[in-house]
Amino acid sequence: QGPRLLAGKRVVITAGPTREPIDPVRYISNHSSGKMGYALATAAKDAGAEVVLVSGPVSLESPRGVERLSVVTAEDMLKATEEAVGQGCDLFIATAAVADYRPGSLASEKIKKSDETMNLSLVRNPDTLATIASRPDKPFTVGFAAETQDVEHYARDKMARKNLDMIVANDVSQPGLGFNSDQNAVTVFWKTDSRTFPPADKRGLARELLKLIAEQAFPAPSS
Ligand code: PMT
Repeated sequence: QGPRLLAGKRVVITAGPTREPIDPVRYISNHSSGKMGYALATAAKDAGAEVVLVSGPVSLESPRGVERLSVVTAEDMLKATEEAVGQGCDLFIATAAVADYRPGSLASEKIKKSDETMNLSLVRNPDTLATIASRPDKPFTVGFAAETQDVEHYARDKMARKNLDMIVANDVSQPGLGFNSDQNAVTVFWKTDSRTFPPADKRGLARELLKLIAEQAFPAPSS
């Protein structure tokens, strides 16, 4: 057991996918399993933090001692996260794979097949991470970036655009890593530096990531 790095801190984490309904039986979503976010929530709890996990639909059990707020859509995720952060938050980590778009209208009945093609009109979803990072009482804010090319360029661009303190980039084009796997490999960028973590089990990686994040977010006062 290391020192309780996050003792007295309140940490809010988003995890998993969102589901955007098309009709009563269909939705748009992605392959996020929630494993990365749940591993971070467990590691933050073990490091002494009070943890709120805002989770899209996943099949994982809630980590013990962590408050879980279950949501379905990107709009639900924003609302639950704003409420959780509004109650006090020192550190916000967004691991969720939020759907960028949702169907513009929700059909009240199951859509029937008719023509050979059909068009679905989509509208932009709100961005939970950018919204939290623009608050006057902004917590230390860490985003994730799922990229398939030019990882550093796109990750640093996202960090600047969304006003983040750190960004954890994973190259999701590598088989066996990232979405819906037990392992991940990431590079973390912040204004002045970066650090690369080789492929590792998400639980071990989460502990290492939290150490680095805590060092940057809550530096020990020099004596
Ligand atoms: O859940 P797992 O199976 O364990 O997989 C983990 C993961 C690959 C999903 C995770 O490591 C990861 O990369 N999460 C971010 C995925 C993503 O959608 O990234 P993005 O580049 O689209 O979004 C950038 C950041 O903005 C993310 O922190 C995301 O949570 C946030 N975001 C994006 C859109 C939106 N509408 N709201 C947001 O909060």
